[in-house]
Amino acid sequence: MAIRVLLLAAALLALSSSHGAIASDPSLLQDFCVADKMSQVRVNGLPCKAAKDVVVEDFFFSGLHMPGNTTNKQGSAVTAVNVAQIGGLNTLGVSLVRIDYATNGLNPPHTHPRSTEILTVLEGSLEVGFVTSNPDNKHFTKVLNKGDVFVFPKGLVHYQFNRGTTHAIAIAALSSQNPGVITMANAVFGAKPSISDDVIAKAFQVEKNTVDWIQAQF
Ligand SMILES: *[C@@H]1O[C@H](CO)[C@@H](O)[C@H](O)[C@H]1NC(C)=O
Repeated sequence: MAIRVLLLAAALLALSSSHGAIASDPSLLQDFCVADKMSQVRVNGLPCKAAKDVVVEDFFFSGLHMPGNTTNKQGSAVTAVNVAQIGGLNTLGVSLVRIDYATNGLNPPHTHPRSTEILTVLEGSLEVGFVTSNPDNKHFTKVLNKGDVFVFPKGLVHYQFNRGTTHAIAIAALSSQNPGVITMANAVFGAKPSISDDVIAKAFQVEKNTVDWIQAQF
């Protein structure tokens, strides 16, 4: 009997955790919940504005035909279209980005804590990759050409690099209205206030002055 109860508990746990793994943003309880950006209410996501005040523009954005400005240290630019740009995306669990890459442009290693990403190359070619979690840290990498599609699983560190001879353009869809971005280098070396150099030196197994030098770049 005790074993049966235990097995049942284990099965329920497996069910609930596999359900958790499938979920992206929580599912809808209504047709839409257009973000009321003026509201002082704080909830997980954004509060809904009154349905009578919802207009077609709440579901609209124009501008992804425009190239991003890649004149920066990384040589890349991300134009995001998430709930910040389209209030109607609130609670819908999807968003988009356009990414432009100069030649040698890099979208540096980063993660989206709340989102899987599916990316397609519209112009040029990209070397892309992601790394699995500990302890394996297996690196999956591939060169993508125009029309190719690649997936970066939720939460994993990933990047895109343009080794091609022309600029590159990609569009990516993300499984959250607000995927979030953690850029590894910025989070570790550019934290404000800084993470102590002895902490980073020990983590990266390098001298403290090497860490100080890298921190000074941010
Ligand atoms: C692109 O960004 C650079 C660096 O910030 C700036 O000097 C330049 O004017 C920008 N170009 C356009 C077209 O906005």
